Amino acid sequence: MQNLTALRNDFPILSRKIYGKPLVYLDSAASSQKPKQVIDAISKYYATNHANIHRGIHTLGEEATAAYEDAKKVTAVFLNSRSWKEIIFTKNTTEAFNFLAYSLCQSFNKGDEVIVSRAEHHSNFVPWQQCAQKYELVFKIVNITAYGTIDLRHLQSLLTKRTKVVSITHISNVFGTVNDISTIAKIVHKNKTENGCTLLCVDGAQSVPHMPVDVQALDCDFLAFSGHKMLGPTGIGVLYGKKELLERMEPLFFGGGMVGTVTEQKTTWGDLPLKFEAGTPHIAGAVGLAAAIKYLQNIGMKRVWNHDNELAEYALKKLKEQKDVTIYCPEYQKGNRCCVVSFTIKNIHAHDVSSILDQEGIAVRAGHHCAQPLHDSIGVPATVRLSAYVYTTKEEIDTFIFALDKVRKVFQ
Ligand SMILES: Cc1ncc(COP(=O)(O)O)c(C=O)c1O
Repeated sequence: MQNLTALRNDFPILSRKIYGKPLVYLDSAASSQKPKQVIDAISKYYATNHANIHRGIHTLGEEATAAYEDAKKVTAVFLNSRSWKEIIFTKNTTEAFNFLAYSLCQSFNKGDEVIVSRAEHHSNFVPWQQCAQKYELVFKIVNITAYGTIDLRHLQSLLTKRTKVVSITHISNVFGTVNDISTIAKIVHKNKTENGCTLLCVDGAQSVPHMPVDVQALDCDFLAFSGHKMLGPTGIGVLYGKKELLERMEPLFFGGGMVGTVTEQKTTWGDLPLKFEAGTPHIAGAVGLAAAIKYLQNIGMKRVWNHDNELAEYALKKLKEQKDVTIYCPEYQKGNRCCVVSFTIKNIHAHDVSSILDQEGIAVRAGHHCAQPLHDSIGVPATVRLSAYVYTTKEEIDTFIFALDKVRKVFQ
């Protein structure tokens, strides 16, 4: 990426030292760092515009409402959604999937089916599993290929006329591999059920921050992601849904802000998307998310994705040179992998690798990365995960590779 040094200067935290060493932050898949443009937008909002939204008829209330609604419009354009009314703000991806699972499954009949993949983050696995148990649905799990992607033949074989929902990730948070969502959408939508076709929900937590995502081109029915993984603040996430589907869905949370009229006998719901946003939302979070999206748009999502691909190739090449390292899912489609790489070092526990790297100023994640079924299937309880983002340099990956020798010295 051009002007990487200038870009890095936008991120105050990158000048920090850890144990006296320059911070090398390789844990962006868990949460990204924030540029000063996002930090400033949030403090400016609190310093000059804050009030509650959709309530007060006063200048601050109107400014705050405009800022919140503007964040929806910015998000809608970013995703190429047909309307900002298709954008619901949530706390994070996890909350979006809990809402989706409960809201959809409560209308299904006993014996209907939901399908997830073995590569799902728990946030797109556990809510469906729990709803399947609660509403007596059949919970099916689709296999993953050697390329770390959904096995399309297996998916096809699992679909029946009782399959109501397929919910899968766009990019694996363990392998960094990319599922071909538009092909999956064609397969899923071709499957007819008694009252329409199977719906496709997509976990965009790792894709929306890293690659151009066009919800109309993908033709997914729902897509969820989190602001904090894409330079934005924590506590704000997005659920995109096709308007005609959202209109038919019932809210799960009730109270102020989401109603049309309330009488002692009966309550009606407000218009989309407010009927799904009960109570005071995270207004400053929405402002921060809009600033993060504008920052990414300024770079250009194609450039963000190219940078990711380049770093993925580089990290994989360097790691493959390490004889005692096992990389999980080294096979992938060239030019189509996010820089998320999971590995183990022979005879050294992933947590030990991470804690020694920390002493070198390097932040990586160790564990099952909230993907236990996937770790069970690859036969390891824990891996080390390196993940990069727009501010990551090849030199940082070199520093990380060099530090692996220090890890070995401590443990061997
Ligand atoms: C693929 C994927 N889905 C969902 C999530 C959950 O995101 P959040 O914790 O922001 O809800 C993550 C977080 O790591 C993820 O990587």
